Amino acid sequence: EQNAFVQSEVQRLTLKQKAGQMTQVAVDLIFEGPTYVLTVPPMLSEERLERVVGELEIGSILNHPSRTYPTPAEFREYIGKIQEKAMATTGVPVLYGQDAIHGANYVKGATLYAQPLGIAATFDTTLARELAEITAYELKAASIPWNFSPAMDVGRQPAWPRNYESFGEDPYVNKLFGLAMLRGYQGDGVGDSVSVVACLKHFTGYGSPLSGRDRTPSYLPERQLREYYLPQYQAAIDAGALTMMINSGEVNGIPVHSSKELLTDILRGEMGFEGLLVSDWQDVRYLYERHMVAADLKEAVKMAIDAGMDMSMTAVTTDFPKAVVELVQEGQVNESRIDTSVARILAVKVALGLYEQALYDPEAFPDFGSERFARRALQSAEESIVLLKNDGLPLPIKSDQRILVVGPTSDNMRSLNGGWTYSWQGQEADTYLTDFNTIREAVQQEFPGKVTHTEGVGFDTLIDIDRAVSLARASDIIVLCVGELSYTEDPGNINSLLLPAAQRRLFNALDALDKPIVLVMAAGRPRLMSGMSSRSEAVLYAPYPGPHGGDALASILSGRVNPSGRLPLTYPREPNSLVFYDHKHTEARNGTFNPLYEFGHGLSYTDFSYSDLELSSRVLRPADTLTVSLRVTNSGDRAGRHSVLLYASDLVASVTPSVKRLRKFTKLHLEPGESQTVTFQLQPEDLSFIGRDMEWVTEPGTFRLTVGELTEEFDYEE
Ligand code: IFM
Repeated sequence: EQNAFVQSEVQRLTLKQKAGQMTQVAVDLIFEGPTYVLTVPPMLSEERLERVVGELEIGSILNHPSRTYPTPAEFREYIGKIQEKAMATTGVPVLYGQDAIHGANYVKGATLYAQPLGIAATFDTTLARELAEITAYELKAASIPWNFSPAMDVGRQPAWPRNYESFGEDPYVNKLFGLAMLRGYQGDGVGDSVSVVACLKHFTGYGSPLSGRDRTPSYLPERQLREYYLPQYQAAIDAGALTMMINSGEVNGIPVHSSKELLTDILRGEMGFEGLLVSDWQDVRYLYERHMVAADLKEAVKMAIDAGMDMSMTAVTTDFPKAVVELVQEGQVNESRIDTSVARILAVKVALGLYEQALYDPEAFPDFGSERFARRALQSAEESIVLLKNDGLPLPIKSDQRILVVGPTSDNMRSLNGGWTYSWQGQEADTYLTDFNTIREAVQQEFPGKVTHTEGVGFDTLIDIDRAVSLARASDIIVLCVGELSYTEDPGNINSLLLPAAQRRLFNALDALDKPIVLVMAAGRPRLMSGMSSRSEAVLYAPYPGPHGGDALASILSGRVNPSGRLPLTYPREPNSLVFYDHKHTEARNGTFNPLYEFGHGLSYTDFSYSDLELSSRVLRPADTLTVSLRVTNSGDRAGRHSVLLYASDLVASVTPSVKRLRKFTKLHLEPGESQTVTFQLQPEDLSFIGRDMEWVTEPGTFRLTVGELTEEFDYEE
């Protein structure tokens, strides 16, 4: 029935209206003032609304009015005007979309939590789903039905400035967390008042630019592409993903926005994606302005449509729909091809129930910004922080110790939140998140009367290292907070993972004193700390834990919270390290695989021991399930949460096997002395890889399972 309605709508619309449906523009275009420097407070321009939604009949809008962050009621008010205009002209509601990356980060007062890399570090997919449910609820409170998240890009380039927007380096972790968030956003069906449509990003290969710089070429041999860069999207398609965004970069020399092979043959043909495929920002234009594969806009538009794109996200221009109309009129693009895209777009609008209800009453969302949601966000912060080292047990800090909190990430919100926090680059976190504690504020509250503070250095500027040294002399322990500010995309490009010299100088000056150092690395990617970590007594990694990150860190320092995060990435020791935990045997010969901290590493204040690793059988056959069980005991004296990671190694294979691959994980809570049996179900598909013929295969032979120090082997037989 819905399909019939969509088809009748497609028949009803004029060619120009259909081109408008395929166009998405920034909301700035309908507000007063120059784009990106709108008037404050923002004022909807009736004239511009008439031009964009009335005359041009644009069908989708994104973003928030620049420089301001409306409340749910303010969003509802202007989205209401947009919808009213749309219904009065085309009769088709506008699809409004936004980037809610770690919570509804453009809606004033919404709940913000850890960035995706931090969520992955929790290794808790139940929590991830709950966080996404919170975001869906808070977006709907603001009448925003479409969220450009989750990013399922595997982050296999540590310098990439969007590493923290990914769930780390492992495709299985990406798959499970992406699925959890997709389910949290879309709920049981996107038509209800507490769900939104998710948008999987950025199909595909975006997270592996060779240079480490954003939107630069990725080179992905077919085997790698199929094994590492498609399965997570496939799983999400199978789970009901309705929309997807295209990778802005190029893969193997072809800009993905112009790749029929990736977008049509593989994504639609092989993977069965029937949903809406939206471009990334200005990317049709960039086919001729940056990638130089098209001579002009019209050629670029044709290329993207031929490749399989349905909707063009344009920043400020509205020449895309004009080009679509001309291409059809000139016979260069068949109108039926346009109809296909429009049908996909309308299907999303229908699924959301936008024709019946596009606006929601913020009063009907009493949990918006609630304490209940804040508790979950705090949990995400606490469990995202990874204790990497605690030698000689300087942590937890004792209540009578005098503490110096020092360093450039010690007293700001940007280093706790990253990009997409209010503003695109996150620079407004300090203006809008004043109700939350920085690390300094939180540690001062946690240890009243015991804390002194100075920054010592800026991110790459010297301030007053001498003062830091003299305060350190009068302290018993130094909490040294280094790392990064906030960023995303191009502005976050770096030439080296090395920390700026000023931060290294501060470390050296403090290290010269004979005081224990707790090194806190607050950063969205693994900035190098070799030489620092070995000379620090304790090391914590805080991958943008969100606004509650200061409190989370302070309670870990005091021991009120027992850390449970684990690294979702390989923490490199050297610059230019592109060897991951699942490397090949040749990459690890003679001890050459030597990261600073391994993927999955993460300590606790208690001890967890593993025993009784048992397999239900020594032989696994096709269509069978192998049950793997083990006993996990909290043998220390504190309660704690702990994630158990099960790796499998294919000992001999026709394609060089990785030394190990993460195949299952789970997270538990154990009281002191408590034991629990954990079971995992392994199926032959869990052990498969892309074989010599480019098909998935599980080859007969011996497999080794590893959990912590325990290993067992079994055979797969056909
Ligand atoms: O969704 C984002 C994308 O991740 C990066 N470019 C802009 C889009 C819309 O803001």
